[in-house]
Amino acid sequence: MLEVQGLCKSFGGIHAVQDVDFSVQKGQILSLIGPNGAGKTTCFNLITGFYQPTRGQVRWDGADVTGCAPYDMAQKGVIRTFQKTNVLRNLSVLENVVHAHYLKGRTPLWRTFLPNRDTARTDKEIHESASCILELLGLAHRQHVDASALSCGELRLLEVGVALGAQPRLLMLDEPAAGLNTREAESLAELLKTLPGQWVESVLLVEHNMHLVMRASDHVVVMNFGKKLASGTPREIQANEAVLEAYMGKAA
Ligand SMILES: Nc1ncnc2c1ncn2[C@@H]1O[C@H](COP(=O)(O)OP(=O)(O)OP(=O)(O)O)[C@@H](O)[C@H]1O
Ligand SMILES: [Mg+2]
Repeated sequence: MLEVQGLCKSFGGIHAVQDVDFSVQKGQILSLIGPNGAGKTTCFNLITGFYQPTRGQVRWDGADVTGCAPYDMAQKGVIRTFQKTNVLRNLSVLENVVHAHYLKGRTPLWRTFLPNRDTARTDKEIHESASCILELLGLAHRQHVDASALSCGELRLLEVGVALGAQPRLLMLDEPAAGLNTREAESLAELLKTLPGQWVESVLLVEHNMHLVMRASDHVVVMNFGKKLASGTPREIQANEAVLEAYMGKAA
């Protein structure tokens, strides 16, 4: 579905991403991991059009989409979350997920101010879809609460819900488990595993929580200092000496 070829991004003298290749297959959860500053979020920004690559190509469904605008990528079904929240804190939990649907809906947001029978039907469908998403996330009982009142764990789930509301084909999550405790991260891993084939086609995950990565991923790509260091199954990555060295430093 997604193919990244020879991707490079420099900021002045900083080579944030250097010659990175990987591809995400349909039905797959692929994790992009690496130490702080490895270039993971920059890859997200390049894939989703927030940054233009210095060199290289992004392909989606076989077509070259390098440099497409973020809203274009979203329309194509490539939806990402941000390391900082994508939740509107003054809206309720339900309103946040409803709001996200208008990104992809056939009814432009302004039409909802001039309601007719068509928009009423669409609004009903959107509310039903948003309720299903909140049910999936275990947030249904919190739907009328302001997002600002959520716990950290609930907020992380709502961020996933907002992304799902935009009806992704490829869901790109940037550190969805940041601040979660072990139990919350484990249930997030289980939730993510249910998404491909049901709610999305594939997931591209950036995450520091190795337990979650190893539990949820089909494939793992490791970055270090902007470059791809390794690629393999979770088991292969866990046994990879270069990866251990990147995370823990060279053994004495
Ligand atoms: N807009 C920018 N301007 C200048 N330098 C940047 C910019 N964005 C990222 N960088 C630099 O590029 C490198 C890679 O950053 P990036 O945010 O992609 O890392 P990361 O792997 O997501 O790290 P983390 O795990 O801490 O989120 C870092 O050295 C960072 O300082
Ligand atoms: Mg990052």
